[in-house]
Amino acid sequence: MVNFAIVGCGFIAKKHASAINNIQDANLVAVCDKVPSAMTFYKEEYGARTYTELNEMLNIEEIDIVCICTPSGLHAPLAIQIANAKKHIVIEKPIAMTIEDTDKIIDTCKKNEVKLTVVHPNRYRPVVRELKSILDNGLLGKISHGSCIVNWNRNQDYYDQALWRGTKEHDGGVLMNQAIHNLDLLLWFMGKPQQVLSMEATRLRDIQAEDVSVGIVRFESGALATVEASTTVYPKNFEESITIFGEKGTVKIGGSNALYFEHLALESKSEDEILLLMEKIKKDPWGIPGHQWIIEDIIKAIEEDKDPAVTGEDGKRALELVLTFYESAKNLKV
Ligand SMILES: NC(=O)c1ccc[n+]([C@@H]2O[C@H](COP(=O)([O-])OP(=O)(O)OC[C@H]3O[C@@H](n4cnc5c(N)ncnc54)[C@H](O)[C@@H]3O)[C@@H](O)[C@H]2O)c1
Repeated sequence: MVNFAIVGCGFIAKKHASAINNIQDANLVAVCDKVPSAMTFYKEEYGARTYTELNEMLNIEEIDIVCICTPSGLHAPLAIQIANAKKHIVIEKPIAMTIEDTDKIIDTCKKNEVKLTVVHPNRYRPVVRELKSILDNGLLGKISHGSCIVNWNRNQDYYDQALWRGTKEHDGGVLMNQAIHNLDLLLWFMGKPQQVLSMEATRLRDIQAEDVSVGIVRFESGALATVEASTTVYPKNFEESITIFGEKGTVKIGGSNALYFEHLALESKSEDEILLLMEKIKKDPWGIPGHQWIIEDIIKAIEEDKDPAVTGEDGKRALELVLTFYESAKNLKV
């Protein structure tokens, strides 16, 4: 039995608890939140012990893995404390708010010989895995360019739910909070970035950080990509998509949640094969919940003493790209 604990019992913690509950050999032992009422659900639903002080929870010897689900600006100090208590870590995205903090997390985990994985669950969507396999098998040939779009709605009520939302210190804007998943995928698909140009604005939401961002990336391969992200769309999520154009194929995964092949043309596959593939994805677009994949993966990484599928370095790469967008936008401001 692998024993879990959660720190931060808000919106996303419920997905962690449900994922742990779905895994046969996993058990939610304890939860920690500064607000006692936030923990009632976990006590009643899963029989978890409750703590307002992380130190006290970390004294429970049988805890193997702690999931960090607090506001993003708190990820780093908590992760360092947890790693020093010799517990493995599942950390929500973004891994941290700065590269300096990220390096401290990664180093502390290495020093204490604990595993670290970052929650980028979109990597496990069936359509995303198919696209990754198409790319890894070279079926698109040489890539000319791509496009990454997250045009979503997060209304003012969403930002007003908690004081940390939309702040530069604890959350960031649409790039750091929502589109970081898609930037992670863009890096996974297209490799190392070389140059970024970006502009951002805060147009419709009353927040510190950006609610709209547009940018261009040049990758080391020479391929280009455009990025467009917003939380300002009226009245609901409009599009989450990634399109990649290659010499032997064009692929767009999209919909309002990047769950389907919206377009698939491959020189190496017949029309029937392509239709079959598109239909297969349509039948089960979500697959196993992404959080469950991440949690099953870290359990396997511990058992087999190997790196998890999404490492701290992966989290750092996605964060670096977000921060490079922010830096470019600052420099381009008129
Ligand atoms: N992977 C995803 O798809 C996804 C989706 C949503 C949110 N997130 C990430 O999850 C994190 C939390 O987001 P949320 O929407 O659940 O936030 P939330 O505001 O709903 O919950 C945060 C919880 O942390 C608690 N908390 C604050 N400080 C604490 C401390 N020092 N110790 C213990 N508990 C503390 C709060 O009381 C609250 O209950 C963020 O980093 C966010 O970016 C990831």
